[in-house]
Amino acid sequence: MNQQTSVTDATAAKKTLPDAQTVTEVRHYTDDLFYFRTTRPQSLRFRSGEFVMIGLPGDDGKPIMRAYSIASPSWDEGLDFYSIKVQDGPLTSRLQHIQPGDEIILRPKPVGTLVLDALLPGKRLWFLATGTGIAPFASLMRDPDTYERYDEVIMMHTCREVAELEFGRQLVESLPEDPLIGEFVGDKLKYYPTTTREDFHTMGRVTDNLASGKVFADLGLGTDRMDPAIDRAMVCGSLDFNKDIMAILDGWNLREGANSEPAEYVVEKAFVG
Ligand SMILES: Cc1cc2nc3c(=O)[nH]c(=O)nc-3n(C[C@H](O)[C@H](O)[C@H](O)COP(=O)(O)OP(=O)(O)OC[C@H]3O[C@@H](n4cnc5c(N)ncnc54)[C@H](O)[C@@H]3O)c2cc1C
Ligand SMILES: NC(=O)c1ccc[n+]([C@@H]2O[C@H](COP(=O)([O-])OP(=O)(O)OC[C@H]3O[C@@H](n4cnc5c(N)ncnc54)[C@H](OP(=O)(O)O)[C@@H]3O)[C@@H](O)[C@H]2O)c1
Repeated sequence: MNQQTSVTDATAAKKTLPDAQTVTEVRHYTDDLFYFRTTRPQSLRFRSGEFVMIGLPGDDGKPIMRAYSIASPSWDEGLDFYSIKVQDGPLTSRLQHIQPGDEIILRPKPVGTLVLDALLPGKRLWFLATGTGIAPFASLMRDPDTYERYDEVIMMHTCREVAELEFGRQLVESLPEDPLIGEFVGDKLKYYPTTTREDFHTMGRVTDNLASGKVFADLGLGTDRMDPAIDRAMVCGSLDFNKDIMAILDGWNLREGANSEPAEYVVEKAFVG
């Protein structure tokens, strides 16, 4: 499924909700996943990888707000989001029905730990994601700074099924030819998508493919582990995924960093629960 509807960013202007932004495009990938684009508040400045609170009014008029990674780069005039559809979820049971021209609430206060500034300089940057955890990397993969700071960037993304990889695949494959970012990306970006519950040419959890050395062998990296002297990682997935990845990275002597104290890797939850 890849249904698309859109209005141009320029025609979307009417605002009635507080902190309202107008939806300009919606694409449904599966019964559980969709992408949407909105107008961007003029006041919103953010670093690639950060998240904001977005929402819709509830039946009682009170806003239902949730954290969402911004999936577009900071230079883009609109804002991209990539979302789960939780059928009984307070927000996404409603959000999945938005159409171009509709309004959402967006609080223009970006925060988050998945920022390049929280990492020490290095040579190779790993983006490690499951499910909608690819959203912040859709921003970072389009940031020229990513390619100016690192010689090599590796995007590992694991989903249960092939169709759940489609949003990431389309984005990654478009980048080398992209008129704005293509020259920065060049041949620096490597993509390693895997599934766990449907046949695919590469399979297995990110954790297993790292710990076994498979991804290093498949990409011809000439090693079977990360090296704290050159490798940096950014992690975004479920709580269990994040914990399991951290155990592997800690075992390779990489340390968790923060904005205030940059180190070798950073972690963010893709959802709570
Ligand atoms: C820092 C941060 C960034 C986030 N960025 C995104 C994003 O870019 N895209 C996005 O879709 N969600 C993101 N989320 C999750 C988001 O905040 C909401 O939880 C999600 O939109 C569902 O809202 P809901 O009200 O429908 O259900 P909720 O009541 O919020 O969630 C119900 C249950 O659904 C499951 N769930 C929720 N979100 C997800 C998800 N993304 N993937 C798989 N299972 C999930 C969990 O089991 C959760 O307990 C992020 C969360 C955090 C903490
Ligand atoms: N996506 C669906 O088709 C689906 C269907 C029904 C219900 N749900 C529910 O929706 C929620 C989110 O589903 P989701 O598929 O987006 O996210 P998810 O359950 O976190 O799985 C996403 C991917 O991450 C892998 N993974 C999970 N835990 C991991 C860990 N500790 N280490 C390494 N890899 C790990 C999964 O592999 P494994 O397959 O090996 O677990 C899967 O490939 C869950 O609560 C789930 O029960 C999802």
